[in-house]
Amino acid sequence: MISGTTQWHTELEAKLARFFGRERALVFSSGYLANLGALSALSRSGDLIILDKLCHASLIDAAHLAGATVRVYPHLNLDYLEKILKAAEGKKTFIVTDSVFSMDGDLAPLPELVALKNRYGAYLVIDEAHGTGVFGKTGRGVSEHFGVFNEIDVHIGTLSKSVGSFGGFVTGKSELVDYLINHARTFIFETSLPAPICAAAIEGLNLIEHEPKLREQLWSNVKRLREELKKIGAPILPSESPIIPVVFGDEKRTIQAAEFLLGHGFLIPAVRYPTVPKGKARLRITVSANHSSIEIDRLTQAFKQLLSHAD
Ligand SMILES: Cc1ncc(COP(=O)(O)O)c(C=O)c1O
Repeated sequence: MISGTTQWHTELEAKLARFFGRERALVFSSGYLANLGALSALSRSGDLIILDKLCHASLIDAAHLAGATVRVYPHLNLDYLEKILKAAEGKKTFIVTDSVFSMDGDLAPLPELVALKNRYGAYLVIDEAHGTGVFGKTGRGVSEHFGVFNEIDVHIGTLSKSVGSFGGFVTGKSELVDYLINHARTFIFETSLPAPICAAAIEGLNLIEHEPKLREQLWSNVKRLREELKKIGAPILPSESPIIPVVFGDEKRTIQAAEFLLGHGFLIPAVRYPTVPKGKARLRITVSANHSSIEIDRLTQAFKQLLSHAD
């Protein structure tokens, strides 16, 4: 607010607003800070924030920082969510969710969430960290994929994943952005992004916009790897995104599996408690458009070897 806004910040915000077809956008120094700043600025004590159990840590922290009442519904359990909404009795209520859940790779049922927020007069806040660039005909995210893009009240994202740069953002109406500029503490009291990072983000958004073939390649890679892993009986979760979790459960076995794959040239992190629940340790594969079919087949072969060792 004092001196951190250069021409590149302004251009990036204009680019984001154009790309998402929104009135305005506001750039934060990370996706985490965008979630923390936006949600804590928009809600206060006496309000109600309802989160999916598997929401990203930044949304959980944001909800607590807001000082609002926080309720959590079991992952994707909309009946449970509706019970909370029914009992909310006219409170200002925010339904908050990731659009792609970062550790399971599954999607939030956005059309159903939109219906519920309309029925109960709530606001729907989504974190499209893993949706931007990947989902939707033009890469605007899972809300575009499900055809409910214009029904989302607050759309938050990161520039550090498919955009390939760094930083976070909120897009929406002009009043929303003006409000956040003056109330989001992680915007006001944080050093702004370095200008080259903004320039890199603009280029990343240009690629998403003008090279849809990259997205097609990504989905073809995802399909190929999922099918191959299924064929060899790898314990994959039924994810719907380029995040493919292979759940072993046991932490030691998962770490050994990650080491084995690293030895074969594949960096696939072992994700354990507290990032995922106890007993649900997993390898988290992230497919990219840059992976070749040869690499995907080599990975399948490495998994085959890994699984046969375990037998
Ligand atoms: C769902 C989700 N939201 C937000 C973030 C935070 O974004 P950033 O890394 O830009 O702070 C992450 C992870 O990085 C994430 O997976």
